[in-house]
Amino acid sequence: MVTPREHFGSKMGFVLAAAGSAVGIGNLVAFPVAATKSGGGAFLLLYTLFVFFVCLPVMMAELAMGRKSEKDPVGAYRQLSGGSRAWRIPGWLALITPFMIAVFYLVVTVWVFGYLIEILSGNLTRLTDAAFFKEFINTKAVFVYLAVIMLIINGVLAMGVKDGIERTAKALMPLLFIMLLGLVLFVLTRDNAILGLKFYLIPDFAKLNAEVVSKAMAQAFFSLSLGMGVMITYGSYMKRQNSISGSARAVALTDTMVAFIAGLLILPSIFYFNPTVDLSALSDSSVGMIFLFLPKIFLSLQASIGYVGASIVAAGFFFLVLVAAITSLISIIEVPLATLQDERGVSRKKAIYTVAVIQFILASACAVSFGMVDWFTQFVWLAGSEKSFFDLVEIVFYDTILPLNGLLVCLFVIYKWRRVNLDDELSLGDGGFSGSLSQKYLNFSLGTFIPAILLLIFLNTVALKFFGSSFI
Ligand code: PHE
Repeated sequence: MVTPREHFGSKMGFVLAAAGSAVGIGNLVAFPVAATKSGGGAFLLLYTLFVFFVCLPVMMAELAMGRKSEKDPVGAYRQLSGGSRAWRIPGWLALITPFMIAVFYLVVTVWVFGYLIEILSGNLTRLTDAAFFKEFINTKAVFVYLAVIMLIINGVLAMGVKDGIERTAKALMPLLFIMLLGLVLFVLTRDNAILGLKFYLIPDFAKLNAEVVSKAMAQAFFSLSLGMGVMITYGSYMKRQNSISGSARAVALTDTMVAFIAGLLILPSIFYFNPTVDLSALSDSSVGMIFLFLPKIFLSLQASIGYVGASIVAAGFFFLVLVAAITSLISIIEVPLATLQDERGVSRKKAIYTVAVIQFILASACAVSFGMVDWFTQFVWLAGSEKSFFDLVEIVFYDTILPLNGLLVCLFVIYKWRRVNLDDELSLGDGGFSGSLSQKYLNFSLGTFIPAILLLIFLNTVALKFFGSSFI
């Protein structure tokens, strides 16, 4: 007997779970850093345009594929393509990509968790020592933290879609919003906050070049959890009476708001720390920002609120990032679980154990590639420099295959599954969709310029990351 597919209990439940997936380290750290370095308000404007005019249609297409087929990505491609052999490949890519992105994302999340524990143990000062990070990521404690994080995530997943994923999102997302707003209000009342705001918000269009445009696009795509099978899988748990376009809009809006608000937190903090800071010297990477720069900023708060106060604010921030990362990881690990259940008929429990064991091993391989094990640290020679296993996973799956997956989704829904079927699915639970401007836009954009943009990003990444020269 086939058990009926589990569904999210309500539209709100779906929106919170999908927003939980979308809101992650990308929003809280990568976006503010990118915006600051690449034109402030101008970057924000560009990013918002990409979210709503390029990414939102792809999100709707992924959700429609999932809901129509009620399957994981592999099953969705198989079923909607009528069993085509060639279209199996994107299905597998949409399974392997989240699996591997989860692996490197887990490692960063584990570091965030470790830093939170250090702060709670009264060690904020230690974290500001430049050598500490390198030392910390090479301690054995990392494996213990990895086991704890995986236990939490898999514990939630074991409870299922409605009682696990949805209930957790309903509890954690409001907490995340409240904490974020609390921190922002605190930071905005510090000295020099206004300097940071100016830097963040005043648009500098001169900074917008091809590279920035491509960065904004990639950032928006990753932030909305696209190209990783997540929205196909979550779509498969959506009820038919709920509007896909309405829900997707709510998710995109929430995600963009959180990214925007995170900038109101980070930039004023930097200027409080040092009003004459040279922002061009800031690290481009989220990792550099979280682990090397932000602890210093938090420690500087001790002048006004004391060491304990500064530690509380720092702990609040690291906890916030941890919560956001955990809800993202839950969504991404759900993809291989759904595949094992749907495609192999494996029980949920067995799927969880299988995926957890493999991910623990691969995440450990990433964790030791910062000096602990030479073979993983100097894993490959790529585009003129040595890359670790961690770097390789990030380059192959996050930088390269993600836009390729997005491109394949667009081509698939328009040219293989066909527009009418996409329209029919999107019209369910959404009486106004058929004939609307949104429908016309979707039909046109998904078949033309959106795949063209994604193709350009894909080709440029291949040129840059594998051959060392970009053409954009
Ligand atoms: N949207 C997440 C972020 O912005 C990215 C992500 C989603 C990562 C799902 C892992 C899993 O950080």
